[in-house]
Amino acid sequence: MEKRGILYEGKAKQLFETTEPDVLWVTYKNQATAGNGAKKETIAGKGELNNQITSLIFEKLKEKGIPSHFIERLSDTDQAIEKVEMFPLEVVIRNVAAGSFSRRLDVEEGKDLPFPVLEFYLKEDALNDPLINDDHVLALELAAEEEVAELKKQARHINQALISLFKQAGIRLVDFKLEFGKTKEGTIILADEISPDTCRLWDLKTNDSLDKDVFRQDRGDIIPLYQEVLNRLNQL
Ligand code: C5P
Repeated sequence: MEKRGILYEGKAKQLFETTEPDVLWVTYKNQATAGNGAKKETIAGKGELNNQITSLIFEKLKEKGIPSHFIERLSDTDQAIEKVEMFPLEVVIRNVAAGSFSRRLDVEEGKDLPFPVLEFYLKEDALNDPLINDDHVLALELAAEEEVAELKKQARHINQALISLFKQAGIRLVDFKLEFGKTKEGTIILADEISPDTCRLWDLKTNDSLDKDVFRQDRGDIIPLYQEVLNRLNQL
């Protein structure tokens, strides 16, 4: 398989066509952004770490019977993935109050939520990815009713698998964002990435952040933290 022309460039990844019609090539970039690109920096080593962490998590999920678009890791920064039609949605699951949930609803950061709270966001940079509800998803025809049910079911199942995976690594899964796509057969599968860029990960003992909040809030260098997440997952 060979890399062909670029299909899409996002904030953290580039997507290329390949010689295989159903396979795409993704390259993880070193760019870090926050606030929908308002804060932007190049951080050497970030692409490599997120590629390795995402690849490892997708492999662990596969072992637990949860499929994704991930096919294989090709190099330090590259992956082969199945071509899917993406839903223009971000599915966020929150186990613990933090971030925009705490700000919007004035809930103390770190408060355990009584059950995992699921939210949809519209993936639209021009609108700052607004929070939307199920009716919005249906009315804007972003997904059909049975697809909404399937997205929620899969996201909640993935949450349980990730909670237990991170717990074994001494990490509390506070919240995270998932994206899903549809294969050419019409099956809904997990796509995009799962990394410290897209999850809030707190050390179980100290509650220290091991994720992008440290970049968002100018609290220091994220590379040693992302490396720590990778090292702990690698030991499982
Ligand atoms: O900012 P907020 O609290 O809504 O983020 C919830 C979770 O979703 C966090 O783990 C964050 O890293 C992730 N997220 C993301 N991409 C976005 C928005 C949020 O990965 N565009």
